[in-house]
Amino acid sequence: QKGGFSTFMMKEIHDQPRAVRNSVRGHLDFDNATTSLGGLHMNPKELASIDRIQLFACGTSLNAALLGQYFFEDLVGIPCQVTQAADFRYRNPIIEKNTLAIALSQSGETADTLAAVHEAKRKGADLIAICNAVGSTIAREAGRGVYLHAGPEISVASTKAFTTQVSVLLQLAILLGRTKRLDRGQAADILKAIDQLPEQIEEVLKLSDSIRTITEKYTDVHSMFFIGRGYQYPVALEGALKVKEISYIHAEGYHAAELKHGPLALLDEKVPVVAICTNKDSAQKIVSNIRECSSRKSPVIAVVSEGIETPADDSITIPQAHPTTAPILAAVALQLFSFHIADLRGCSIDQPKNLAKSVTVE
Ligand code: F6R
Repeated sequence: QKGGFSTFMMKEIHDQPRAVRNSVRGHLDFDNATTSLGGLHMNPKELASIDRIQLFACGTSLNAALLGQYFFEDLVGIPCQVTQAADFRYRNPIIEKNTLAIALSQSGETADTLAAVHEAKRKGADLIAICNAVGSTIAREAGRGVYLHAGPEISVASTKAFTTQVSVLLQLAILLGRTKRLDRGQAADILKAIDQLPEQIEEVLKLSDSIRTITEKYTDVHSMFFIGRGYQYPVALEGALKVKEISYIHAEGYHAAELKHGPLALLDEKVPVVAICTNKDSAQKIVSNIRECSSRKSPVIAVVSEGIETPADDSITIPQAHPTTAPILAAVALQLFSFHIADLRGCSIDQPKNLAKSVTVE
């Protein structure tokens, strides 16, 4: 069942090359430099008329949605709002004409996301669901959408659902983008990047032992920070969520630019910082954030793409990738990081205390 791994989490981390491949199977249209997502049941005119996106989700799915926001705004050029599903449900959301509402949920059973689906329907939104569990309540209530095809996720900590959600959101952004501002060449580059992902994830998985060696230094800490900018900001949030839920270390994900606005006060030699730096264009800015942390004596672990140098104490070097797919590779590296730190601390990885796989109550 666990495919030779000691935990479902490690098995599911290693499932990701195949899961991501399955999430794109039959969708990439290289000839027309676009994607084809039949489950949306939308014709080209309907797709072209979408001029606003509203995403709602919880937990890891919410972090994937935040990455989707960058995709929709950067690639499609339309406004995109991301709302925590419970907040969407209770805050009287405004759904304008031509808004596509997207419910994002691995299980398709999360109570708050389901309630947000009902609210979106009540307000007359065009709604789709992006779910993993086939035939789940949210998928059925939405009636159309895209399945992740990641296979069953058993470990409480979500891994392959996150990477496949990001893959599907990126595919949707290409589809909508091609009806708007995404040109053929840009779309072709992203399609190529998506196609390379399974192999690149394999490369990241090979780093598992060296990541474990790095985590050995940090098993006794009580608090850590994860920082990123732009596309890597949601990855920082997701890295921190993984660490806190399975290793019980307090971990916070922050936009790197926010450090000066409060968190720097907490940094010292006992508080490590994980800095994600996969974009050459913003590398200098993250490097200066790393210096800010080092000068407060915080040990810094950098997750960098090949070719990026930083003054961090430790580095996890992942393959160079397109800016839209690099976050997926960084997320896999941080899944391994959180797994090893939790394992070295002797935590119950698949069944963390106080957590359930599917949150079907409010
Ligand atoms: C974290 C985790 C949770 C879920 C959240 C939403 O690793 O698994 O935060 O992401 O409960 O669940 P779904 O996606 O099933 O709606």
